[in-house]
Amino acid sequence: MRIGLLTGGGDCPGLNPAIRAVVKHASSLGMEVVGIYDSLQGLLERPLRYKVLTLSDVTDLLGRGGTILGTYNKGNPFLKDREKKLQMLRQGMSELKLDGLISIGGEGSQGIASELNKEKINVIGIPKTIDNDLPGTDRTIGFSTCVDIVAESVQRLQSTAESHDRIMILEVMGRDSGYIALHGGLAGGANVILIPEIPFDYEAIIKKIQDRKKLSRKFSVIVASEGAFEKGRNASYKQEMTGEKNLGGIGHVIAKTLFDKTGMDIRVTVLGHLQRGGPPNADDRILATRFGVYAVDLAAKNKFGRLVVFRGQALSDIPYDEILAFKRRKLSADDEILKAAESIKICLGR
Ligand code: F6P
Repeated sequence: MRIGLLTGGGDCPGLNPAIRAVVKHASSLGMEVVGIYDSLQGLLERPLRYKVLTLSDVTDLLGRGGTILGTYNKGNPFLKDREKKLQMLRQGMSELKLDGLISIGGEGSQGIASELNKEKINVIGIPKTIDNDLPGTDRTIGFSTCVDIVAESVQRLQSTAESHDRIMILEVMGRDSGYIALHGGLAGGANVILIPEIPFDYEAIIKKIQDRKKLSRKFSVIVASEGAFEKGRNASYKQEMTGEKNLGGIGHVIAKTLFDKTGMDIRVTVLGHLQRGGPPNADDRILATRFGVYAVDLAAKNKFGRLVVFRGQALSDIPYDEILAFKRRKLSADDEILKAAESIKICLGR
């Protein structure tokens, strides 16, 4: 059996350990792995861009950030010239003698993979994204490392905030889901955590800061998810130099409003892509390895059209048709961690 392996969407820590696991396990089962460069682009462009991956290609990958296969996050290539591109893809797979694909990706890439599955192209999915917003799975590769980075950043901001009696705002990623802000903020000891699932109220934030002052805690750290927004308002967007519009800027909006209302001394840190770069932590190395091994086992059993998922503490797999029924995963109102945060008096802006 010969499998094409690709990584799609925004990168994250843990992609390389997943590639390593796929190649090592496949090789032990006598299967071949062909790495496809830049997600499906390597199969859609001519000449085809790929590399047959051997064990020597994956040594030293366990702790390396990014992806040796490169990635592509400029949207769904099949939205334009769909039939022609499907034909190119099929032709590319046949030229490389691929029995199927393993696609390591988040919500966008898995959406594309599920379309391919409908077109009877063999594909197995491995969930990744720092945002942890892929439906069907409790965990995605990259999330745990990102939470570590956010938690450490909160702690670092805390000490300087305390020295200067300041309010520090940390804007973190996560798109329209608050997993990164909630988990990173809780682990780092943030005083206020603002997430897209709970539109916030400035009065609640100011009250929290003032309550802390009464207890002689003259500083506060606010973690704001990039998708957070004030009740009755829209989320903030920033325009990239390429013209793309991405979520971002809410940290500065909050700082300005808080300053106008209270005159407090405030600084803003936008953590940005530091959340996605660098080595995966132990959790992500383990998860990526487990996902990779599981995906190869599925392929060996000819079980395509499935997404590997992590639910509770166990791995399983679900048909692509099942995730199509969902939208991006968000924190639910009865999320136990959300409740725990509020129980220990972290202000969620309400
Ligand atoms: O989906 C991962 C993510 O890092 C989001 O949290 C963030 O909004 C986005 O990607 C940033 O994308 P880009 O790498 O294109 O700036």
